[in-house]
Amino acid sequence: MLLVLASVCAVRAQRIDISTDKTDLILNVADNGRLYQSYLGETLADKAEAANVAAQAVDNRWEVYPGSGGEDYYEPALAATHADGNLTTILKYVSHKQMPTAYGSETEITLRDELYPVEVKLYYQAYSKENVVKTWSVIINNGKKPIDIWRYASALLYFDRAAYYLTEFSSEWAREVRMATQQLQFGKKIVDSKLGSRAAMHAQPFFELGLSQPASESEGEVLMGTLGWTGNFQFTFEVDHLGNLRVIPAINPYASTWELKPGEQFKTPDFIFTLSQNGTGEGSRSIHDWARHYQLKDGEGDRMTLLNNWENTYFSFDQELLEKLMKEAQALGVDMFLLDDGWFGNKYPRKNDRAGLGDWEVTRSKLPGGIPALTKAAKDAGVKFGIWIEPEMVNPKSELFEKHPDWAYTLPNRDTYYFRNQLVLDLNRPEVQDHVFNVVDTILANNPDVAYFKWDCNSPITNIFSHYLKDKQQQLYIGHVRGLYNVLARIKEKYPDVPMMLCSGGGGRCDYEALKYFTEFWLSDNTDPVERLYIQWGFSQFFPAKAMSAHVTDWNRKASIKFRTDVASMGKLGFDLGLKNLSAADLKYVQKAIQNWNRLKPVILDGDLYRLVSPYDGNHTATSYVAPDQSQAVLFAFDINPRFDEKIQKVKLQGLDPAKRYTVREINRMPTTDKAGNVIEPSDEPDPKQWAEDGKTYSGDYLMKVGLDAFTGSSLHSRVVELNAAR
Ligand code: GLA
Repeated sequence: MLLVLASVCAVRAQRIDISTDKTDLILNVADNGRLYQSYLGETLADKAEAANVAAQAVDNRWEVYPGSGGEDYYEPALAATHADGNLTTILKYVSHKQMPTAYGSETEITLRDELYPVEVKLYYQAYSKENVVKTWSVIINNGKKPIDIWRYASALLYFDRAAYYLTEFSSEWAREVRMATQQLQFGKKIVDSKLGSRAAMHAQPFFELGLSQPASESEGEVLMGTLGWTGNFQFTFEVDHLGNLRVIPAINPYASTWELKPGEQFKTPDFIFTLSQNGTGEGSRSIHDWARHYQLKDGEGDRMTLLNNWENTYFSFDQELLEKLMKEAQALGVDMFLLDDGWFGNKYPRKNDRAGLGDWEVTRSKLPGGIPALTKAAKDAGVKFGIWIEPEMVNPKSELFEKHPDWAYTLPNRDTYYFRNQLVLDLNRPEVQDHVFNVVDTILANNPDVAYFKWDCNSPITNIFSHYLKDKQQQLYIGHVRGLYNVLARIKEKYPDVPMMLCSGGGGRCDYEALKYFTEFWLSDNTDPVERLYIQWGFSQFFPAKAMSAHVTDWNRKASIKFRTDVASMGKLGFDLGLKNLSAADLKYVQKAIQNWNRLKPVILDGDLYRLVSPYDGNHTATSYVAPDQSQAVLFAFDINPRFDEKIQKVKLQGLDPAKRYTVREINRMPTTDKAGNVIEPSDEPDPKQWAEDGKTYSGDYLMKVGLDAFTGSSLHSRVVELNAAR
């Protein structure tokens, strides 16, 4: 981050503007010395007009970081029990600094209680062009005695609108990101997680909030927010007696009162938000741009296609079979072979999910040549080699657990309960942090050719007791996540260029703090392409295509290989199947589709996403990606299960240059087989007999106002269309 420390103003100011190119958040210090939110909305021509806090009724003032026990009767940002047992905290403005940065500005505001030694610093990074604000708080104990904090919001935002519509993304294994919208009424709606490690298994740490009207794709004001925290989180939405809304993103304070020692600072996670005036489509593009430029690991870099063996072999493989699969990877034309679960453990070999986790040594009986033989075989096959790990976990049937039973969370005085037959290692403990770091470090130190990790985390924290924390059990959840970040930071520091996939029993961990360390994440174990249309639609609200691993598998064989591959081609393309299940025509198709994907990667992975037709609205769905210079676009159109008596609509494109002329070409066409069994590949030339639009040229204006006849009345039909502007 480039901080230009030019116009630093540390003077007492009445107004603080936190502005992107499209949004203003205006804060004001009132006569009582406290800091209030005056405005949050579309950029104002004259910000001074929104500065008049004094004009607001005193009981309707919106304190930016309200402490508990004051005159505010709603949910506070901060609650502390001071050393003398007093529960009130009132923070007054002390100073602020605002620094221009390469991306916009960073603001630091200092608040302090006049009676108790508590200081809070509020931080705001405003990304001008991306229209994104990243905000967090730091709570500091300047006293000589510890204090307990039990509310510690990352931020608190207020809205005064006619109505509020919350879209949440509830989840479950194989049922990730179910989008559902409800109107918020008086009182509180809380979306949270208490699961600890696989924290987002039931609720994802992001939301959309339609202001005045339900969020829609290209109209209306919508707040899109996400918390960068890979653990228990909590979003509180509270409508007060006047119909105003406060939004409080935070670490979930459940069972997590934090003892803040003298001199200690408590940094909250980042809350990242965008306020779009033109619906969720624009909001997603803003967050995608921000993520690629500033947050996601290697956000501007390339991604590798891969062949994974999980669905194909599960735990049953040996060296010979893996070598065969590496050759299959090469034959498909992907960049890498990814070896999944089942390669480790000797005393308790990992033959199924009941044993071996924790013992990260290759099972000698299964793979006698170890990882060196695997990386060599991959090299011989002409592909890279990646490997699966789940380093934060342990099976009780493992040498690690036998040696260090107190490294796992278990209850000293109650029966142990298991999730997927495993236990979570206590990342509060420094030796456990070293152990987890060493899993990666040892593999890479001995095998520098390992090119990729899939890092899994299948269990929530069970048995809530740390043998390390002793009488400080309240620190378990927060300390665990901080321990994880220590490890990830060490790995990134030592191996900055190794790509990693974040996986958690499918999509049980997807947040932007973790994604500082991971280049991509696994959305779901559900790879049925029809389900994936919904799952990818949901995650694409917040994550760019290059972060979303999408694999073609054998789930839903009713869908053709073309349909399955076309769905996965909208994300970071991979495969998890055996070639034995592909006909000669299927194989030709896949090889060509991979070549097309590689050619179009710059548009799909780095272009602008336009979600055109939602699968939630009917039997068809369409999505497109447009190159930043609008010279090229790719359209993906799917017919799921249309009715016979349905009027098929055209697909209107978005984001094109109205004045440019685009030639339309269908790609990813299926080869045919002649009577003799020979595969006949479709030519690269347009074929209007197959699709009347093929080869036509239209203006961007026409394509956006009239559209293309891309849908059909057939079930499980897909079409991929490339649009190229005349130079
Ligand atoms: C989790 C992952 C899968 C696979 C298995 C291996 O369920 O989501 O992709 O890696 O673990 O046990």
